[in-house]
Amino acid sequence: MELPTRPTLFDFHGVSMVKYFTDNWENIQNFEARPDDILINSYPKAGTTWVCYMLDLLYFSNMCPERQTFVPLHERVPFLEISSPPRPKANENPIHSVKENWNTVKKGTDLIDQLSTSPRLIKSHLPVQFVPKSFWEQRCRFVYVARNPKDSVVSYYHFGRMNGIHPEVGDWSTFLQDFMEGKMVFGSWYEHVNSWWEKKQTYSNLHYMFYEDLSENFGRETDRLCSFLGLSPSAEEKEKVRAAVMFDNMKQDKMANSSTIQIMNHEVSPFMRKGKVADWKNHFTVSQNEHFDKDYKQKMKNPELRFRTEI
Ligand code: A3P
Repeated sequence: MELPTRPTLFDFHGVSMVKYFTDNWENIQNFEARPDDILINSYPKAGTTWVCYMLDLLYFSNMCPERQTFVPLHERVPFLEISSPPRPKANENPIHSVKENWNTVKKGTDLIDQLSTSPRLIKSHLPVQFVPKSFWEQRCRFVYVARNPKDSVVSYYHFGRMNGIHPEVGDWSTFLQDFMEGKMVFGSWYEHVNSWWEKKQTYSNLHYMFYEDLSENFGRETDRLCSFLGLSPSAEEKEKVRAAVMFDNMKQDKMANSSTIQIMNHEVSPFMRKGKVADWKNHFTVSQNEHFDKDYKQKMKNPELRFRTEI
């Protein structure tokens, strides 16, 4: 079988990126946010899809139940910076067709323009310094999702294996070292989580949440999120959201499990992979773990920003 065309990383204003997230840069930077837009941001693999689905259900499940059955989540909550390859023709390998169909590429900004809902829910992985300025000018609300770095890097590794618009992952130990050095799409995890945390100190419309907290106590985290958003769902509505976004249910849900995204090969690794805290223990060797912890201590100096690698 022919090898898929994978993009290469390059330095983009100090952050490692691939073309699929920078090619539409002018439109992204000139994006006109509306005051009620909500940006769900994270470093990749933090549980963004989980939180996007929660928000979509909290806002729209009563208004339009068909949405959950017929519209894929990535169209309900578009990915701002993506310029993804379009659906390949039948019997065409999606990854191979990336190049050929490049001129008919799908852009996140176009999908956002097509949204008729209010508020518009928008997903992004942009480091804080790259967020289009209109979001700040309009005082938009942000939901930032963070996940401990050990589970993030494991999840990113498997994601890179199955996703044709990411670079080749190589072997696990090289990938882990690259993660520590910030040689990942969207750059350094350490800088990402820290700079969004710092932003929260001066920008009040930002809710910073953790994957581990959500896993540990979904009800409490839903209440915190709703309080930030000014929503007051009934107990019954909250229960519906909880049931719909439970890992096993989301994994079966074709509109939410990313199975409609053609650039992903779920046979290599499913997008809804494990959904657990501490799966890193199945990947890190003892010496990788020691090396990682030492490096982590040097990079993460803020005692207020704490990550849990197990719960
Ligand atoms: P794993 O690869 O560890 O399983 P993102 O949406 O930011 O790309 O994050 C994907 C990660 O979140 C994957 O982690 C995925 O399984 C996990 N995830 C997605 N939905 C989840 C859910 N409902 N409950 C728990 N984890 C979930």
